[in-house]
Amino acid sequence: MSKLKLNDVNIYYGDFHAVQNVNLEVPARSVTAFIGPSGCGKSTVLRSINRMHEVIPGAYVEGEILLDGENIYGSKIDPVAVRNTIGMVFQKANPFPTMSIEDNVVAGLRLSGEKNKKKLKEVAEQSLRGANLWEEVKDRLDKPGGGLSGGQQQRLCIARAIAVKPEVLLMDEPCSALDPISTLAVEDLIHELKEEFTIVIVTHNMQQAARVSDQTAFYSLEATGKPGRLVELGPTKKIFENPDNKETEDYISGRFG
Ligand SMILES: Nc1ncnc2c1ncn2[C@@H]1O[C@H](COP(=O)(O)OP(=O)(O)OP(=O)(O)O)[C@@H](O)[C@H]1O
Ligand SMILES: [Mg+2]
Repeated sequence: MSKLKLNDVNIYYGDFHAVQNVNLEVPARSVTAFIGPSGCGKSTVLRSINRMHEVIPGAYVEGEILLDGENIYGSKIDPVAVRNTIGMVFQKANPFPTMSIEDNVVAGLRLSGEKNKKKLKEVAEQSLRGANLWEEVKDRLDKPGGGLSGGQQQRLCIARAIAVKPEVLLMDEPCSALDPISTLAVEDLIHELKEEFTIVIVTHNMQQAARVSDQTAFYSLEATGKPGRLVELGPTKKIFENPDNKETEDYISGRFG
């Protein structure tokens, strides 16, 4: 069974139909990249996968999004629980700047009621190791998160996201504000994380999509104001080398070739 399955998903901002009829499956412990021109709905689809879309007034989702076969939009499902299981990392690293590095990592755990100091320390170390940041910060865990470099801050946010032990990690252009070296560090990390997590990443960087993902979803839109749609989904190698759809080919060769 797929970890995630989107069935006929349509997404709206009030009257505006932003994304049309998305059908998509994401296997467990894999990386799926979302690519496509600006405004085609990549971030919108991503946010619908952990019920972050509906926090915008008037915004709603139609269709089904199944996590392990269960509809996360089912009437008995608590959106907060969904967001714990399906974590998110944003484009701009957003650590709590004045909070210590360690406290940043365990903020979510604290919020869910964990008070045991030893346990919190353990999880902080484990998550920072998981995010390939431990060696760089282990001697300054009590210093503010805002004092780290951009690339370190983004890995701190990844540590914070994995500290609550999600099953799925959604990443919206996680490297777009990073220099090439930090970007490679995050890409290496994504490779390691997929042994444990299922990852969906939005990226404008075609090389990055080609490097990190197992499958790629190409989205497009006919014109501004029209809904975005999923044009083609397939193994990354196929999408980049031999896509079925002419539109995919034109986009890839324009951006990559
Ligand atoms: N909060 C919002 N309210 C109304 N419309 C929105 C909102 N956020 C996004 N949209 C619209 O939904 C459509 C899809 O936007 P989205 O941000 O998902 O695109 P994207 O593919 O992520 O683009 P980019 O590559 O520029 O990040 C766009 O037309 C956008 O203007
Ligand atoms: Mg976006």
